[in-house]
Amino acid sequence: MIDNFNWWRDGIIYQIYPRSFSDSNGDGLGDLPGVTARLDYLAELGIDAIWLSPFYPSPDADFGYDISDYTGVDPRYGSLSDFDHLVAEAHRRNIRVVLDMVLNHTSDQHPWFLESRSSRDNPRRDWYIWRDPSAGGRLPTNWESSFGGSAWELDPKTSQYYLHSFLKQQPDVNWRNPEVRQAQLDVFRFWLERGVDGFRLDVFNAYFKDARFRNNPPRFGLRGFDRQEHIYDMDQPEMVGLLQELRVLLDSYPERYSVGETYVPTSEKTVGYVGSDRLHAAFSFDFFASDLLYPWNPGWLLERIERRDRLFDTIGVLPTTVLSNHDKPRTASRYSKNENDQQTLIAMTLLLTLRGTPFMYYGEEIGMREISLSRSEIMDPPGKKYWPIFKGRDGCRSPMQWNETPFAGFSTAKPWLKVHPNYNHRNVAAQQPDPDSVLNFTRRLIVLRRAYTALRQGSFKSLFRTDTGVLAYERKLVDSSGQAQRIQIYLNFTGSTRRVSFADDAGPESVDVLLDNAGRKQFCPTGHQFILDPYEILLLEVKTAAL
Ligand code: GLC
Repeated sequence: MIDNFNWWRDGIIYQIYPRSFSDSNGDGLGDLPGVTARLDYLAELGIDAIWLSPFYPSPDADFGYDISDYTGVDPRYGSLSDFDHLVAEAHRRNIRVVLDMVLNHTSDQHPWFLESRSSRDNPRRDWYIWRDPSAGGRLPTNWESSFGGSAWELDPKTSQYYLHSFLKQQPDVNWRNPEVRQAQLDVFRFWLERGVDGFRLDVFNAYFKDARFRNNPPRFGLRGFDRQEHIYDMDQPEMVGLLQELRVLLDSYPERYSVGETYVPTSEKTVGYVGSDRLHAAFSFDFFASDLLYPWNPGWLLERIERRDRLFDTIGVLPTTVLSNHDKPRTASRYSKNENDQQTLIAMTLLLTLRGTPFMYYGEEIGMREISLSRSEIMDPPGKKYWPIFKGRDGCRSPMQWNETPFAGFSTAKPWLKVHPNYNHRNVAAQQPDPDSVLNFTRRLIVLRRAYTALRQGSFKSLFRTDTGVLAYERKLVDSSGQAQRIQIYLNFTGSTRRVSFADDAGPESVDVLLDNAGRKQFCPTGHQFILDPYEILLLEVKTAAL
C-alpha cells in the first residue's frame, strides 16, 4: 500500500500545557527543560508533534494567553536557549514542534499597549482598537467579552474605550493597521527561523472586526456573549486575505504548518478558512455539543462525524479530531463518572480511528480526570465570574501524573494547581507495565494507525444505523493497483451485550482481529451475527480479493 505519510495530516499532535507537564527546577511550575526531559516518553508513545501552549512572558491574567513579549520565553519556563535545545531534541526524535500564537490580543502589559494607552497621539495609539463613547456616553457597540461583561473598557486617562474580546487585561490589537500586520508576521518569522514547524492560531477568526462597528443582533442564549449573533465582532472578509499572506510566508519554509482555533466554531465556517492557499487545518470541535453538553450517544456522534466529513470533503482536506484541550473538561470525566475506563477506551479509539488529524491532550493517554476545586481554589477568570454555573477550566489543567511519588512526579515542590488525588494509581509508571492500561491500549491504537494507511487516509462508512448503542464503521483505502485495505471498527457504547451483524458486503477472504478489549482473539460470527460484550471495542481487518 502506497504511503505518503505527512506529519501534520497523518500524524498525531500532542498538546502540552507547559505549566502542568513537567517541572525541572522544583518551583511547582512546569517548564521547557521539563518538556525536553519527557521527549523519550512522547517518542515511545508514538506521537508526531507537540503543540506547546504559551510559554512566553505573561502576567498570567489568562495563564499565558495574555502575552507581554511574543519573542521571549518567560523566565519561569526557561530561556530561549532552553527552547532551542527542546526543538533540537524533539527533531532528533522526529517530533515536530508547534507553537501557540495568540495574536488577536496582547497582554495589557505588552510594551505596545503601554505606549498605545499613554496618550491619544502616541504613534502606537492605532495599534489597538480605541473608540469614543457613543452619544450619551454609551458603550461604542454592544459587543460582549466571552469571559463576561462588555468587550469595551473605558480608559480614564484618555477618555476612550479599548476593545477586549476576552479579559480587560487582553486588549485586542488592530489588525487593520499595516504596521501591526507586519509586526505580527515578523513574530512568525522569528519562530520559523528558530526551526519551529508550525503554529496553532488562537481565536484567529476574531482578528478583524466590523470596520463600521455595528451592533451584533440578539439571539437566544445563556450568557451575555451567547445572546448575540457574532456577525460583526468576528469572521470578517479581511481574514482570508491575511491567511493567504501567512500561507505564502509559511510555504517559503519547507513543511511548515498552521492550524486555526476557530472561535465560536461550526464546521461550515471552519472549512472556509482551510485549503492549499490558507490554513492547513482548523478545529471545528464537532464532538462538543456546547460548553456543557457532550452526548455519549452513537447516533448523535455518527451524525456529527458524517456532517464534518462531508463538509471537509468539499475542500478535499482532512478534518481534525479533538476530544480534549485546555479549555474543555477532560474526556474521561465527561463520559464516565468514576475510575472505570471503559468509556475512555472507546473515546481513545474514536480519536485515533476516525478520519482526521488527532489532537491528544496531555494525560488523555492515561485517562486523567478533572480535578475538583472549591470556590476559593479556582484560578481561571471565567470560573471566578460564573461559578457555580461554570466552574472554569482549571479542572483539566492539573499536573501530569507521572508516578506515585508526592506531587505525582510532576515536581518536587507543591504544584501551582493541585494534583488529582487518584495520582497514586493513575499515573504513567503504574500504567506502563499493565497490558490493559489506557496507556498501552492507546499505544496499540497508535501502532495500528501507523501500520494501516486506511486508518489515516481511508474513507469512512457507517456500517449500520439502527439505534443499537453500537457505533460501527469501516475505514477503507483502495490504491491505484486495486489493492484494498479495509478496517472495521465496532464500538459498544453500552454496559450490556449487543447482537450485531457483520457487514461483509464485498465477500471477505478472511477476517483478522487487530485489537479487542474483551479477550477476543478470533472472529467467528454465527450466520453473519455476533455478540459484542459490554463496552467492547473490536477492530477487524477484512481481507478481500483485489478489486
Ligand atoms: C483561546 C484559548 C483560551 C484563551 C482564549 C483567549 O480560546 O484556547 O485558553 O483563554 O483563547 O486567549
